[in-house]
Amino acid sequence: MSTLKTKRRSPWVNWTLFIVTLAVVFFLGLLVSSITERRAEAIFAYKPKVKLNEFEPRNEVWGKNFPKEFETYRKTQQTDFRTPHGGNAMRDVLEESPELVVMWAGYGFSKDYNQGRGHSYAIEDINNTLRTGGPLAPNEGPMPSTCWTCKSPDVPRMMNELGGPAEFYKGKWAKHGMEISNSIGCADCHNPETMDLAISRPALVEAFEARGEDISQATHQKMRSLVCAQCHVEYYFNNENKQERPNYLTFPWVNGFEPEDMLKYYDDMGFSDWTHAISKAPMLKAQHPDYEVYTTGIHAERGVSCADCHMPYVSEGGIKYSNHHVTSPLKYISQACQTCHRESEETLMKNVYDRQDKVLELRKKAEELLTRAHVEAGLAWDNGATLDEMQDILYDIRVGQWFWDYVAASHGGSFHSPVESARILGKSINEAQSARIKLARLLASKGINREIAYPDISTKEKAQEYIGLPMEKLKAEKDKFLKEIVPVWKKKAAEREATYDVVLNE
Ligand code: HEC
Ligand code: HEC
Ligand code: HEC
Ligand code: HEC
Repeated sequence: MSTLKTKRRSPWVNWTLFIVTLAVVFFLGLLVSSITERRAEAIFAYKPKVKLNEFEPRNEVWGKNFPKEFETYRKTQQTDFRTPHGGNAMRDVLEESPELVVMWAGYGFSKDYNQGRGHSYAIEDINNTLRTGGPLAPNEGPMPSTCWTCKSPDVPRMMNELGGPAEFYKGKWAKHGMEISNSIGCADCHNPETMDLAISRPALVEAFEARGEDISQATHQKMRSLVCAQCHVEYYFNNENKQERPNYLTFPWVNGFEPEDMLKYYDDMGFSDWTHAISKAPMLKAQHPDYEVYTTGIHAERGVSCADCHMPYVSEGGIKYSNHHVTSPLKYISQACQTCHRESEETLMKNVYDRQDKVLELRKKAEELLTRAHVEAGLAWDNGATLDEMQDILYDIRVGQWFWDYVAASHGGSFHSPVESARILGKSINEAQSARIKLARLLASKGINREIAYPDISTKEKAQEYIGLPMEKLKAEKDKFLKEIVPVWKKKAAEREATYDVVLNE
């Protein structure tokens, strides 16, 4: 029989165990305290400092409650990041592609067209563009007041004050100059009481309603794109009821989200934005169907929202928030793309540029052909062509340029949905060629049996001279407006805002 021998642990083992346990407990304690502290920090940072009025338009007042979002929002003032086809710096599109001047002859875009920069420039840029002209009185100028709709959180405020959107859209653009002073911001996308995402523009709600869809029931993920779809869409000014609802902002979505659907919509109502100055074709101007084109791409298909790429989450200390610096996502690839993709920054950038370059190749081809079609149609008119002979040709030009513009105006579309963009450009090229074949036959029947010379439009200036734009006069009018009118608008707006109360929370 063996006796059980109780082995006594040496005392130093016990002491070591004791000290290790103490240390573990101590560090766990530290961790808990750090977490609570961070939480407290987060709560502190988000404790509302001011009570926001229902239609508070001033971003800096919202910013007092939400400093992180405001700080990143303010970075939309930066203009230091250029990519081959995008970025936050302004791009003079007419300088890059002078053909566009000819393609838009007779329409405002031939005077001046820049690819957008950050949201905080919206007011400055709409004042500066030659397209809004130089109105010296509230009832002067080429544009209707509807043009303000996608520029400012003062818009929902004014729609409310005037009793609805129809009243807001009435009159000329200059009419609201003293009222609209804050650039795109918080009240455009948020409910000030709950901070939930909110739709502030009636046109989007009405457009979905017309399709039988109720977006007040949209999912949270869908809202992260719909807030952008308030502005980044195709639209037109409806004048069917010119007396009561002039220039009523409308999205042509009833038949669907593809350019063929919208073309049918415009054709059915006999709508055109303008008559081309050279070809006399009844033209359509695509605005910026960013949302529509995005819905046809793989990311939308997989449920990725605009905000996932353009407003990705950032973690700083214990705080997680959305980066409100809305710009090219290539500035923030690690937050914007690498949350889902494992490829390197270089590879992801190359993937974007490859798609953009290839779509641009087709776009450039369409631009040359459409320019030729306008010039040749002009020559046909000069040689006695009749409306009867031209009708079919003019419709081809209308359709070809609509398809081209749908892609060209959708900034980012060549990445958002490259296959769809290429498909639409293919149709544009086909329509332009169809017009030119018919034109060649028609011109031959008038005795013109040679290649028609391409005009010298190697620069924006030459192209503007070719279509006969009085650029000096337009610029002088704009300068006068910027010097005499805009400072008054700013002063009056500041005086009005000085009367708004800001209620501090204790
Ligand atoms: C999968 C990521 C992703 C999604 C989703 C996405 N975008 Fe983009 N977007 C990009 C990239 C990448 C570019 C190209 C940027 C460049 O060329 O520098 C871009 C470009 C743009 C541009 C042009 C920017 C410029 O610099 O000129 C706009 C405007 C835009 N997107 C709006 C939207 C809107 C609105 C939505 C939703 C309807 C959306 N994007 C969805 C990644 C995305
Ligand atoms: C109230 C209208 C409005 C809303 C809402 C809006 N945008 Fe914009 N966005 C604009 C306008 C106008 C510009 C051009 C501003 C300029 O050039 O002065 C612009 C410019 C941009 C640019 C180009 C900026 C750059 O640095 O390249 C991007 C990208 C963009 N928007 C994406 C978005 C996304 C994504 C959303 C939704 C999260 C959104 N926008 C919501 C009106 C809007
Ligand atoms: C173009 C639309 C848009 C504008 C303008 C905008 N936001 Fe946001 N904001 C969003 C989106 C999208 C989210 C993400 C919401 C979500 O997924 O719940 C967000 C989230 C937030 C949140 C929740 C916390 C977070 O960061 O995710 C706060 C707070 C906020 N925004 C404050 C502001 C403030 C302050 C401004 C003005 C300086 C502002 N936002 C302007 C679209 C916008
Ligand atoms: C929320 C997740 C998510 C984010 C953020 C995201 N992607 Fe994607 N991306 C996807 C998914 C999912 C697909 C489809 C691939 C599949 O399902 O196999 C995809 C596809 C792609 C493709 C192939 C598309 C094609 O044309 O065939 C490219 C390129 C791409 N992403 C680039 C980017 C870039 C650049 C960014 C950042 C600007 C980005 N993605 C952000 C999820 C994401």
